[in-house]
Amino acid sequence: MERLAIHPQGPTFSRIVSGAWRWHTVSQDTVAKLIHTSLDEGITTFDHADIYGDHGNEEIFGNVLRKNLGLRSKMELVSKCGIKFSSLKRPKTWVKHYDTSSEHIIWSVENSLKMLGTDRLEALLIHRPDPLMNPTEVAEAFSQLKQDGKVLHFGVSNFTPSQFAMLQSFLSFPLITNQIEISLSRVDPLFNGDLDLLMQHKTSAMAWSPLSGGKLNANDREMFSKASKYNASYSQLSLAWLLRHPSVIFPVIGTTKPERITEGAKAIDIKLDRQDWFEMLQWATGREVA
Ligand SMILES: NC(=O)c1ccc[n+]([C@@H]2O[C@H](COP(=O)([O-])OP(=O)(O)OC[C@H]3O[C@@H](n4cnc5c(N)ncnc54)[C@H](OP(=O)(O)O)[C@@H]3O)[C@@H](O)[C@H]2O)c1
Repeated sequence: MERLAIHPQGPTFSRIVSGAWRWHTVSQDTVAKLIHTSLDEGITTFDHADIYGDHGNEEIFGNVLRKNLGLRSKMELVSKCGIKFSSLKRPKTWVKHYDTSSEHIIWSVENSLKMLGTDRLEALLIHRPDPLMNPTEVAEAFSQLKQDGKVLHFGVSNFTPSQFAMLQSFLSFPLITNQIEISLSRVDPLFNGDLDLLMQHKTSAMAWSPLSGGKLNANDREMFSKASKYNASYSQLSLAWLLRHPSVIFPVIGTTKPERITEGAKAIDIKLDRQDWFEMLQWATGREVA
């Protein structure tokens, strides 16, 4: 598996990333298998958030690290913060909201480190744009976390290009990614400036739900026939379509099945022809390019 610096001053990530959002739906043993299979396939980067699995998935993942002391050094950990919702684990929250206060960011990272059983995150992302975000406070929290060695790099998720540029202007170090939804069922970022801005900032998107969260495209029959041309599966072809983009997208796959991690990892070897890429875009949008 290819490994690349996501930004010239940023961390090196595996080109395909394993996302832990759905991992509370399987057993602790299966989570261990998902981690080991990812690493065996060269997928060394893992995507988390404080809230995944009702604030439980980081701990499930951390249990595997606590049992296998050598594992942590073989991986990069990304987590997110900023979303709060009502839960038995968060009894003081009564309404879903965003919190990007300095106090919450620092508290959330310290909690993530405890749950994951690690002393640092390779990257922390602000999960969603917060209409009450004070960029000076975010910059202070990031600087403090960086200075303490608790977070090595910072990024955002689901930010518009102007929100990204605005926050970047308050920081003395680069935002290393914007994690956004990109797939054959969400091609907007290729045209709405999301990817352009990241290229301008010499960084890359992490693409969440790169397989549309498992919902197959309407043109399945054509996709399957295209897949057979490449001796690939539908999901491998869908990932190859993202990997072909010159902005160097890092897809974050979310399967809970180890064998599907192995399957997805092979997408890296598929080099899509330009016309096949455009034909898939046409199927995705339902129209020819102008
Ligand atoms: N930043 C954000 O706001 C945000 C939002 C959502 C997600 N994320 C991140 O993105 C990651 C991926 O999201 P996602 O889970 O929606 O991604 P995905 O890879 O598009 O979808 C995974 C889903 O597709 C199903 N699936 C069906 N056929 C599959 C196949 N052949 N190969 C692989 N999966 C197949 C999986 O089921 P099985 O489990 O049965 O294989 C699983 O339910 C999350 O884990 C999280 O880290 C971030």
